[in-house]
Amino acid sequence: MRARIRHAVFPVAGLGTRFLPATKTVPKEMLPVIDRPLIQYAVDEAIEAGCDTLVFVTNRYKHAIADYFDKAYELEHKLERAGKHEQLALVRKILPDGVRAVFVTQAEALGLGHAVLCAKPIVGDNPFAVLLPDDLIWSSGDGALKQMVDRAGQTGGSVIAVQDVPRDQTSSYGIVATEGFDGRAGRIREIVEKPSPEDAPSTLAVVGRYVLNPAIFDLLEHTGRGAGGEIQLTDAIAQLLSRETVEAFRFRGTRFDCGTHIGLVEATIRYALDHEVISDAARQVMQSALDELGVEDLK
Ligand code: G1P
Repeated sequence: MRARIRHAVFPVAGLGTRFLPATKTVPKEMLPVIDRPLIQYAVDEAIEAGCDTLVFVTNRYKHAIADYFDKAYELEHKLERAGKHEQLALVRKILPDGVRAVFVTQAEALGLGHAVLCAKPIVGDNPFAVLLPDDLIWSSGDGALKQMVDRAGQTGGSVIAVQDVPRDQTSSYGIVATEGFDGRAGRIREIVEKPSPEDAPSTLAVVGRYVLNPAIFDLLEHTGRGAGGEIQLTDAIAQLLSRETVEAFRFRGTRFDCGTHIGLVEATIRYALDHEVISDAARQVMQSALDELGVEDLK
């Protein structure tokens, strides 16, 4: 039986230029959906899947992320004295007991593959997860990573999250071709980073969740620059295919691309409509906004 997956790697060294000017001082991973920053959603998903060592691959502009996961003694003390126990519990839950955060630096922005390789000294010879916090995945049952870890536990191989995308969007994703895909999972026989719609081997796109065997590190060490001039995780996974089973896994849940403006809006709407306190109010404000704009109904 394969080892428990304890390490979750979060590549968070990107510049986030799409969200300027907001991201001039606030890392994009700290942008909120309702009341939690994006990074917290990804961290909660990793913890739910059983991870207890969170590896943030960061850079010198991202101090806010390290500060966020640090203990805020003064704030906790003030909340305690003010009797604000609910808020105190929220702050303490950011990093629950038994879970540790480790920060490693990616000095140069050489791509996602390079970022993952930076985590090697912490992860060592263990299977691990990678979560891209831009991809926020809403799920009514088990989180996407938990579903993938369960799958990897059954097969012993690496597992990559996928979803169907329109063909004209293939150049924004890693695209896989599979064999024996049963609607939920199938062995990947080809994976290519950001192919044009004409060249894409399918419309099954990689979403930012990976469960990987440590063999990927050796491959990353020898992976040159690929699409966009960057060291791509996809290219190392392509090498892994001939060595071991790598599965594409269509998770249950809805993925929001919070690396784009509309994706962040979409996620905010979904989480607001699903929120235990503000859902009714959210519905009302959305309806009045549509009324004001002369749109009669959402349909
Ligand atoms: C990265 C990966 C790509 C994947 C995508 C999912 O691309 O390189 O294979 O499909 O994440 O969000 P990025 O969006 O960082 O350019």
